[in-house]
Amino acid sequence: MSPTNTAKAAAESTTEDAGPLLRVRNLTVSFTGRRSAPWRRPFSNVAVDSVGLDIAPGETLGLVGESGSGKSTTARAILRLLRPDAGTIEAAGFRVDAFGRRVPAAYRRAVQAVFQDPLGSLDPTKVIGDIVAEPLAVHFGLRGPERAKRVADLLDQVGLAAHHARRYPYELSGGQRQRVSIARALAPEPRLIVLDEPVSALDVSVQSQVVNLLEDVRERTGVGYLFVAHDLAVVRHTSDRIAVMYRGRVVEEGPADRICELPAHPYTDALLAAAPDPDPARQRLQRRRRRELTAVAPGPAPAPGGCPFASRCPHRMPVCTDTFPDWTDVTGGGRVACHLHDDPPTPEESR
Ligand SMILES: Nc1ncnc2c1ncn2[C@@H]1O[C@H](COP(=O)(O)OP(=O)(O)OP(=O)(O)O)[C@@H](O)[C@H]1O
Ligand code: SF4
Ligand SMILES: [Mg+2]
Repeated sequence: MSPTNTAKAAAESTTEDAGPLLRVRNLTVSFTGRRSAPWRRPFSNVAVDSVGLDIAPGETLGLVGESGSGKSTTARAILRLLRPDAGTIEAAGFRVDAFGRRVPAAYRRAVQAVFQDPLGSLDPTKVIGDIVAEPLAVHFGLRGPERAKRVADLLDQVGLAAHHARRYPYELSGGQRQRVSIARALAPEPRLIVLDEPVSALDVSVQSQVVNLLEDVRERTGVGYLFVAHDLAVVRHTSDRIAVMYRGRVVEEGPADRICELPAHPYTDALLAAAPDPDPARQRLQRRRRRELTAVAPGPAPAPGGCPFASRCPHRMPVCTDTFPDWTDVTGGGRVACHLHDDPPTPEESR
């Protein structure tokens, strides 16, 4: 059976065909540790708190937020590189949170990853051809000329020449190395690729080339992406939908156009104000947003149940510091967790 047919058969043998590609509910991950001195009490940091995400087959979900907001921890839980404290993860038809110590090979094949630092994630002792060939041997048992032909085909798909197969990772540029990571991720014919800041380490000119390549690959193969980035500018044109994370929580999600044109959450507004925009009218708007955000005096740290953005929010209200906002649907699609958008109380509630 060809790799293509094998991958199709594996996908068909799972239960996901009619269902979502990714469905995450109430995902919670905390890290425990002990502060430097041995007599200090252990601490526990909740890095990801009650996160929900959805990706339909062939769709791209952008996951954005500043450093430390929990994006990589979410991605690592989906890849089963760490075990969550709570919540459910269904990906490519597998119940990931129910896996024991051994992760099924079929899952490893169906869900692939591309990380920020290709030099760190590519084996420096192997030539590119061997790096791309490895998953073909592991997942499809390909050998000899058949495997060599498939490696050449994959390198061609990501815009690399046949002679790159004989090079070592250190001999390639950053953009070329990331193309190798993409070829290696594509080799097992996955249904979902988790891209954790795949272009953040690249020059701006190279970033758009790699983003365009990812778009081509998606159109050609029908793969879905979870595209993690700290910069909204990187994901706004590539994502169908965007989820915005702040301090471990998703605070807004919806169609990419609506999120970027009409952000509902003050933190999404702040992210947009930080993203460079070539349009002068938008630059003026961004300057105004930045002024608003820097004008606000830092408020008290939010109470455990309060809005996580309360200490930085220019629209903070008394309710924000002690009550976590419920989800409210947003006109234009998606939803937001912010008291500015709370539904008005019903007559019964106001009595
Ligand atoms: N292995 C770990 N041990 C302890 N704490 C961790 C670990 N990994 C992440 N954290 C903490 O979890 C929180 C979320 O980190 P995470 O790496 O998921 O954020 P991120 O949104 O990916 O940030 P960045 O944009 O910098 O990559 C941070 O407070 C971080 O310090
Ligand atoms: S809930 Fe309140 S503090 Fe939080 S983002 Fe909305 S207005 Fe700002
Ligand atoms: Mg990260």
